[in-house]
Amino acid sequence: MTGRGGAGKTTTTSNLGVYFSGRGIDTLLIDGDLFLPKLSLHFGIDNPAVNVHSILRNPRINPFDAIYRDPRTGVHLVPGSPNIYDVLHLDHSHLVEIVSEYSKSYNVVIVDSPVGIPFDALPTFNIMEYQIVVLELERSPIYSLKVMLENELLKLKAIGDEFGLKVGVVINKVREARRDIDDVVDFIEEVVGVPVLGVVALDDHVPLAINYGMPVLAKFPRAQASKDFRALGENVYQWLFKGEGGSEKRRKLRHFLYDLSDVLHRITHWS
Ligand SMILES: Nc1ncnc2c1ncn2[C@@H]1O[C@H](COP(=O)(O)OP(=O)(O)O)[C@@H](O)[C@H]1O
Ligand SMILES: [Mg+2]
Repeated sequence: MTGRGGAGKTTTTSNLGVYFSGRGIDTLLIDGDLFLPKLSLHFGIDNPAVNVHSILRNPRINPFDAIYRDPRTGVHLVPGSPNIYDVLHLDHSHLVEIVSEYSKSYNVVIVDSPVGIPFDALPTFNIMEYQIVVLELERSPIYSLKVMLENELLKLKAIGDEFGLKVGVVINKVREARRDIDDVVDFIEEVVGVPVLGVVALDDHVPLAINYGMPVLAKFPRAQASKDFRALGENVYQWLFKGEGGSEKRRKLRHFLYDLSDVLHRITHWS
């Protein structure tokens, strides 16, 4: 999971975790943001005794001892240490071995990455298959869409390409009506050539849920952002397990065909 600071990487990670766990898929979330770990806060874990930092520091600790199981959502996660001293002089070269060890026991492993070029998590890209780039659309006219895509999406996509990852995009914190960002979605899919896996509304329920120590999908399942995260989850599921492009366009086409067959069905069963 990559993207700019504050774009919603951790939020997307935690909600995809809830979605996949809810579907009975063994899912592990790892806080790969070693400098500013926040993932555990989304699950109400304040001071995790064993964490990604302690297992990196002490190879004698069993990495599986750092896995927390959230009883409310069923999510399994490896939190980071909130203590700044744990970050200093940390040798994170083992991260890739640890992630690889975990991935033998889980169907899906999501690493929440730090801001921008995710140097902390970069070695793990060697064993990853997918990269989800979370974008927050800038509303300022000075900061044009093109500049934003060049600065963020294209650079992150280039890293993904370098490691042979399949890249997909989530557009988060959307204030506009869905229709109004269709052009952006088309541009990303057609010009940049990566599927837009989901579009998530800006919704106050998101930070509110985190205050309760829960991802919005678990805390406020009927909120708009939760609907969007469910749709995203379904699309990511298709992308990972059905090998479909997962793009918005395809989804729209599927819905259109579904509606059409529904209409035809009603017409043919008219009498
Ligand atoms: N769809 C959304 N609507 C409203 N607020 C959001 C949304 N997604 C994320 N946020 C808020 O934005 C802030 C940054 O999100 P976060 O997931 O921590 O970003 P990142 O991990 O990319 O730095 C958090 O306070 C979070 O509550
Ligand atoms: Mg984060």
